[in-house]
Amino acid sequence: MPHADSSFIPTSIKTKKEFYEHVITHLEALLEGERYWVTNLAQTSAILYHSYLASSLYGGESVHPVVNWCGFYLHPPSSSPSSPPSSTSASNIHHHQPPNSPLLLGPYQGRPACLSINPIKGKGVCADGFLSSKTLIVDDVDNYPGHIACDGNTKSEIVVPIRNDKNIVVGVLDLDSTLHNTFDQDDKYGLEKIVDILKKGCNWS
Ligand code: SME
Repeated sequence: MPHADSSFIPTSIKTKKEFYEHVITHLEALLEGERYWVTNLAQTSAILYHSYLASSLYGGESVHPVVNWCGFYLHPPSSSPSSPPSSTSASNIHHHQPPNSPLLLGPYQGRPACLSINPIKGKGVCADGFLSSKTLIVDDVDNYPGHIACDGNTKSEIVVPIRNDKNIVVGVLDLDSTLHNTFDQDDKYGLEKIVDILKKGCNWS
């Protein structure tokens, strides 16, 4: 099968659960044998973006995508510590040292976006998702204090923290939509599975 066909979505897929099962099967096949993080995150953003574009669950084959941006902000592995910090916090959340260094734009699909994000609480969805190490679903970005508008067309958003193989939070997977209320618990579940595949399937140091 040509690589591009991995992002075709059969019309038999009727639910988000089926959608993510399908995407994950093809993603795992695409990434097999490769552990370089840039390659794998690039391929992941491509299959996700084009699968949303192809699915009637997310607007169908529209000229204007519903999911209009899909990609990563992260501390690149070259700046990663090789092991978790020795002092463990009560919340058991580990970040890079120094944790306040900017998250840099990584592999993505969509229109140009901000190059870096400062991980400061209240300064955007990516920053808050990274710092809390929790998936954040935003139904209406205009009601989210501190939201960073990289594209004025964006109406809703989901941010999923991504950890490396040492369980350190290294960044986020970020998806934007041109409609309100696009992302729900099924997206959270599916995307958390995908970042887990990347956690195990990449060399992070
Ligand atoms: N909206 C994000 C910024 C990144 S762009 O959406 C690609 C935020 O509030 O952090």
